[in-house]
Amino acid sequence: MKFRRTLTAAAVAVLSLSATGCVRGALMNAGGTYTIKFAHVTTAATPKGQAADFFAADVEKRTNGRVRVQVYPNSELYGDKDEMQAIQSNSVQMLAPASAKFTTVAPALQVLDLPYLFETPDEIPQVAAPDTQVGRAIYANKDLEAKGMKVLGLWDSGMKQIHSNNRTVSPSDMVGKKYRIQPSDVLRTQFEKWGGIPTPLAFAEVYNGLQQGVIDGGENTWSNIQSQKMHTVQKYITASDHGYIGYVLIINKSFFDKLPPDLQRDVEASATEASRVNRERSAQLELESRKKIEATGNTEIVSLTPEQRQTLRDAVLPSVYLQYRDAIGPEIVDELLARKKLR
Ligand code: SIN
Repeated sequence: MKFRRTLTAAAVAVLSLSATGCVRGALMNAGGTYTIKFAHVTTAATPKGQAADFFAADVEKRTNGRVRVQVYPNSELYGDKDEMQAIQSNSVQMLAPASAKFTTVAPALQVLDLPYLFETPDEIPQVAAPDTQVGRAIYANKDLEAKGMKVLGLWDSGMKQIHSNNRTVSPSDMVGKKYRIQPSDVLRTQFEKWGGIPTPLAFAEVYNGLQQGVIDGGENTWSNIQSQKMHTVQKYITASDHGYIGYVLIINKSFFDKLPPDLQRDVEASATEASRVNRERSAQLELESRKKIEATGNTEIVSLTPEQRQTLRDAVLPSVYLQYRDAIGPEIVDELLARKKLR
C-alpha cells in the first residue's frame, strides 16, 4: 500500500517535470490549460473530501476547462508525512491539511488546536473571521508566505470527540493510556495535562494502530472516526466536543502567481464558494456520521454531565493557552482568553 503510494507520487513528480522541464511555476499544458493536483488525507465523503470535489468541479466550470483539478483523497498520493514537502516542491499544487500538520512550518496555526477554542461550531465564523487575531494568524500568516504557500480559505471538519477502549468521563480515566495525536505541541500538552500518553501517528495509520493496540484511543471528528472505521475498533466515544479540526486551504504561491490574472480570480472565487459549501455541509455530515456510528450498536456514545465537562476543561484551560502564548502569539491568545472571560 505504502509502496504503491510512493510509486504513484514518484510517477506524478516525473510527469510534472517532463511536462514543463522544471518543477517551479504554473504548469501550462499544451492548449493553454493548467492542472492543479489537490491531495488530501480523508475520504471523498467527508467535509474536506466533498469540498475538494466541489472546488474541482466549480473551477473547471468557471474557467471553461482552462483549469483542471485532479483530486487525490485518502492519502493516495501524499499523506501526513510528505504533503508539506510536496507542495513546497510544486509536486502537488493544493492541500487542505488540518492546522496541527503545520506545527513545524507555521507554529501560530496551532491556535486552531487549542482546547475549547470554540464552545460550539456556531462560533467558528465569528472567532476565526479574517479581521480577528485568529483570522490574521490564518489568512496573513507570514511563515506560510515565506514557505511559498498562499492561503485560500479555512475549511471545517468539526468538533473533536475522545474515542477509546475505556469509558472516559474524567482525566483520571486517561491516566497511562496512549492517545494518538496529530503532530502538534498543543495537542501533546493537552493529553499530558489529562494524564494520557500522547502518541503522534499519521492519519492513515490510526485504524491499524487502534486495531493492533499500539494506541488505546485518540481524538477526532465524527466524520473522520466513521469514515476511517475507527469506531469498529473502539468501545467508547465520549461526546466531548473539546476541540476543533479545521483545514487551511493552501495553494503553491509560485504556481498561483504565474496563472493569468483572470484564472487567479476564478481559483479564488471557487475557493470562496467551496469554503461556503464546506461549512454548510460539515455540520450536516458530522450529525450523519454520529448517527451511522450509533446505528452500528458497536460503540457506546458517552455523554458528559456539565460537571464532568467542566473538570476536563479546567485541566487544560487556561493552562495550555498560557503555555503556548509565545509560540502562537501573545495578542492572539490574549484576545481568546478575554473572549472567554479568563483574563
Ligand atoms: C484530517 O481530517 O485531515 C486528518 C485529521 C487527523 O489527522 O486526525
